Amino acid sequence: MSPAQPPEIERILFTEGEIAQRIAAVAAEVSERYRGRQLKLIAVLKGSVFFLAALAQRIEVPLKIDFLAISSFASSGKPTGVVRIAKDLDEPIEGEDVLLVEDIVDTGLTARYLLQTLAGRGPNSLAICTLLDRTCRRLVQVPVEFRCFEIPDRFVVGFGLDYRQLYRNLPYIAVMRP
Ligand code: PRP
Repeated sequence: MSPAQPPEIERILFTEGEIAQRIAAVAAEVSERYRGRQLKLIAVLKGSVFFLAALAQRIEVPLKIDFLAISSFASSGKPTGVVRIAKDLDEPIEGEDVLLVEDIVDTGLTARYLLQTLAGRGPNSLAICTLLDRTCRRLVQVPVEFRCFEIPDRFVVGFGLDYRQLYRNLPYIAVMRP
């Protein structure tokens, strides 16, 4: 049984079925792009773990998984782009084809920092795959090679995304009431 729909939810944006369908399509794109190679999926904790699990099961090339945890710093409630790595990768990525797996790219500040940091470790290739892309909030341009959904400027939860650490386990993606 799935968790009951919390009263804070305004409406469901993407159902469980729609999410599964888009992830399968994006996994097919990824498999095509990296055919004949081995992939390293790097997931950024915590939001991306649900997407990572679903995506990885659908990708057809051999792959390894590693995790990063980060803390982002804000000033007067605004993101600064200053990021600290709280848990680093377990293994080097030199010479590897790396796909950074995110639940959401918003201002782009986190993705830009992570791309710069990981690029310095000498991977063979480096690209981003995100479940959600909220381009209307971009502050810096980042290349997003693979995306499942573009979303409007609303606060969303579910499928890994939280509100004060809650609702990550909702099997759908929903808009919160203002
Ligand atoms: C989310 C997401 C990205 C970041 C994107 O993480 O996973 O890392 O925000 O935002 P940006 O494009 O504005 O930099 P969050 O800080 O919510 O952490 P969580 O995954 O643990 O929920």
